[in-house]
Amino acid sequence: MRPSARSGASRLPNASPSGSAAAPPRPEAGPGWRFFRSLAAAETVPTLTGDGVKLRTPQMADYPAWSQLREESRAFLQPWEPTWPADDVSRLAFRKRLKRYVRELESDQAYPFFVFRADGALVGGVTVSQIRRGVSQTCSLGYWMGAGHAGRGHMSAAVKALAPFVFQTLKLRRVEAACLPHNQASIRLLEKSGFKREGYAREYLCIDGRWQDHLLYALLRSDGVS
Ligand SMILES: CC(C)(COP(=O)(O)OP(=O)(O)OC[C@H]1O[C@@H](n2cnc3c(N)ncnc32)[C@H](O)[C@@H]1OP(=O)(O)O)[C@@H](O)C(=O)NCCC(=O)NCCS
Repeated sequence: MRPSARSGASRLPNASPSGSAAAPPRPEAGPGWRFFRSLAAAETVPTLTGDGVKLRTPQMADYPAWSQLREESRAFLQPWEPTWPADDVSRLAFRKRLKRYVRELESDQAYPFFVFRADGALVGGVTVSQIRRGVSQTCSLGYWMGAGHAGRGHMSAAVKALAPFVFQTLKLRRVEAACLPHNQASIRLLEKSGFKREGYAREYLCIDGRWQDHLLYALLRSDGVS
């Protein structure tokens, strides 16, 4: 059975510092209620703070800033990401994306964060996904930065802020990341964040419409970075 939003809250002892984890008043059952319940589940994930950045779960109110940032960064991001669906930056697609995030969060499969600068501007995103429990206790890390904000240290700060959440709050042991062999920014980000190169996977992911080889990296709890 899928865990409820309440069980998600108990899994994450560091509940939102805003103190807003309480569920909103329950209206009569209907499609609207599901959406409110979803938002309450997302609020059980703490906001993370790093050097000049804040990481928090995406909300519907982020849509205008997110769509503008993704649209203006399209040419910068597309060579490194799965092909964007035609409606990727539409409001409806964003709403569906949030619902998926909440489903994944409630079932301990993934934890998405948006990255904000200290002044509140949305600058990028980072996601802990593909969580495997049992004898693995492993996850995958994905990240992107808006074109105008890249190269300023924001993603390094975000990854550093995320490490205690992954290793101490989620109690995972291993974070994996994969990047294209010619993605110098991503390679440098991972290596300066303490990730070790572990291998080379042929035709590992379909990026920008092509099955492409990837470098495989991992950071372990026992590396002692967080
Ligand atoms: C990869 C990415 C998320 C890095 O985010 P960022 O905020 O620019 O990273 P930082 O500013 O923290 O920089 C991290 C390191 O990479 C270096 N770097 C950044 N851009 C670089 C580039 N184009 N070439 C070489 N090194 C680069 C930085 O100088 C820094 O190293 P340093 O501290 O030794 O100087 C961002 O460049 C991005 O979104 N790229 C396009 C999408 C992408 O590659 N996604 C990841 C797919 S695996």
